[in-house]
Amino acid sequence: MFFSNRKWINTPLNYIGYQSLRYFFSYICNYLSIRNKQSDLARNGYIVINDFLSQRSLIELQQYFVSSDTESSFDESIQDAGTLVVRQSTTIDGPVELRPSLHEIYNTLSTFNDFFKISLNQKIWLDKIYNTKDACSQNDIHCDTFHAAFKVWYFPFGVTKDQSPLCIYKNTHQFSFKRFFLEYICSISATEDSEHSWRLPKKGFFSSLAGDKVYFTCEPNTFVVANTMAFHHRSISLQDSIRYQVHLSLPREAFKCFYRRSS
Ligand SMILES: [Fe+2]
Repeated sequence: MFFSNRKWINTPLNYIGYQSLRYFFSYICNYLSIRNKQSDLARNGYIVINDFLSQRSLIELQQYFVSSDTESSFDESIQDAGTLVVRQSTTIDGPVELRPSLHEIYNTLSTFNDFFKISLNQKIWLDKIYNTKDACSQNDIHCDTFHAAFKVWYFPFGVTKDQSPLCIYKNTHQFSFKRFFLEYICSISATEDSEHSWRLPKKGFFSSLAGDKVYFTCEPNTFVVANTMAFHHRSISLQDSIRYQVHLSLPREAFKCFYRRSS
């Protein structure tokens, strides 16, 4: 029950509802942890902060992303059908030239620290996303894991609909019995080769789980925290474009509230 990794796959316990119960109890645990401290995040499943960094840090990050010699410091490229992500994986305490701006992000995240713990070793991604109009796997509606997994995006430049912005489906981070049933169906059909994240069927009984969506189009210098247990996807790009982002994943121990009180 307490594992947050893939140990649930191939367990016969799924047939008696193991995965669905994990979904239910982790939702309760998350709700109890967050409802007073981060009520907007609990209610809406996301928060957006405009004019997030100081002007100095904003310019520092903008220059970093567009400077011609940056390409060599990006250490990973992920081609996914029509989308190429060029990424530098680092830590908050990583590149010296970016330390002031990354520390500004860290300082804000520290205000959430009784909810999720981050450290200066927190992994952080600096991404350039090259979009074409061709779809990629991230365009499918999905959720990241069975329990509240929080992700952070910082956009140093504005994001328009042309640039394949993140979309989140409203209220899908909340508990629902239909979702409870979907967790069951997915758990008994999953294999070691299955996607780690559930894909929402486009047609049929479960397709109505999606509902209305919110596009995260924004002005430069915008910060977003979202619960990616909610259904979400990268929207399809309207034209060839580049999106820049600082991105962090903040997975929580799903059942922490049941075995250790937060301070
Ligand atoms: Fe995702």
